[in-house]
Amino acid sequence: MRARGVPAAALACAALACGAGGCGGDPETKIVEATAVEHGAALFRDPSVAETSFNRYSCATCHEAIPGEAGDAILPGAPLAGAVDRPHYWGGQEVDLLSAINHCLYYFMTKDLPWTAEDEAARAMFAYLESLPAEGDAAEAVPFTPIYILSRPPAGDPERGALLHERACASCHGRARSGEGRLVERAPALPDQTLDEHPRDRYTAVERLLIFVEKVRHGGFVGYGGQMPPFSLEVLSEEEFGDLLSFYELYELR
Ligand code: HEC
Ligand code: HEC
Repeated sequence: MRARGVPAAALACAALACGAGGCGGDPETKIVEATAVEHGAALFRDPSVAETSFNRYSCATCHEAIPGEAGDAILPGAPLAGAVDRPHYWGGQEVDLLSAINHCLYYFMTKDLPWTAEDEAARAMFAYLESLPAEGDAAEAVPFTPIYILSRPPAGDPERGALLHERACASCHGRARSGEGRLVERAPALPDQTLDEHPRDRYTAVERLLIFVEKVRHGGFVGYGGQMPPFSLEVLSEEEFGDLLSFYELYELR
C-alpha cells in the first residue's frame, strides 16, 4: 500500500457551526485541515491511535521515527524511517508492513480490530512513514533476535545498570524502587514490587531473577501475556542486561 498524495484529512473531530454573525461568546472551534503526512505524524505520537482507553502507549513510546530523536533512550522497536522499503519485518517473521504495524496495535496497544489498507488512519500512517528521510541502511531489514531459551546473564556493573533502567525501563515503569512517573499503572515499580509479588517463601533466588529475564526477553509473548514489549539481543545485550540485574541486586538474593 502506498498512500502518498492522499487527500487532506480533517484532524479535528469537533466542528461548531458559526454563522456570519459569529459565535457569540463561545470559543471558536476550528476544523484543522492537515495533510495525510501531518495526520500520520500526529497519530504516531498519540495513544488514542489504538481507539481504546486501556492503552497508554503511542508508537513513539517504542519507536523512533528518525534514528537518534529519542536521545539515549533504548526503545524496543526499530526506528521507522525507511520501514516502507524494508524487505521484511519483525526479524523476518513478517513480510507485510501493514501486518507488522497491526501486530503492535493488537499485542501492545490492545486495539480490537486491525487496520485495513483503506482505513484513513492506516493511510495517514503510511504517508508519514514514507515521508521520513531514509538515510544510510534505513531501508535494510532490521535484525531482531528474540531470546526464547532463557539463561542468567553474567552479573555486571550496577552503576551502568542504573543508567540502563533510566534509558530502557523508566518510560513505562517510572523511577527505580518508587515507580514514580510511571506511564502504565500495571507496570510494577522495579524491582521491589515484582519481588514483593514473588515472595521468598514461594520462589527461589534463581526463580526470582528469572522472572525478570523472562519478562524482558519475552515481553507478552511465549505464553507470558501482558502488554510489555520484548527486548531483543540487539536492543539489550546480555552484558547490559547483567548490569541492569546487578543494579536491581538480583544476584544477591537469598
Ligand atoms: C510497546 C511497544 C510498541 C508499540 C507501542 C508499538 N510498537 Fe511497533 N514494534 C515493537 C517491537 C518490539 C517490534 C519488533 C521489533 C522490530 O522489528 O522493530 C515492533 C515492530 C514494528 C514494525 C516492524 C519494524 C521492522 O523493521 O521490523 C513496524 C513497522 C512497527 N512496529 C510500527 C509501529 C507503529 C506504526 C506503531 C503505532 C501504531 C507501533 N509500532 C507501536 C514495539 C512497539
Ligand atoms: C513500553 C512499556 C514498558 C517498557 C519499556 C518496559 N516494561 Fe516492563 N512491564 C510493562 C507492563 C505494562 C508490565 C505489566 C505486565 C504486562 O502488561 O506485561 C510490565 C511488567 C514487568 C515486570 C513484572 C513481571 C511479572 O510477571 O511480575 C518486570 C520484571 C518488568 N516489566 C521489567 C522490565 C524491565 C527490566 C524493563 C527495561 C529493560 C521494562 N520492563 C521495560 C511495560 C513496560
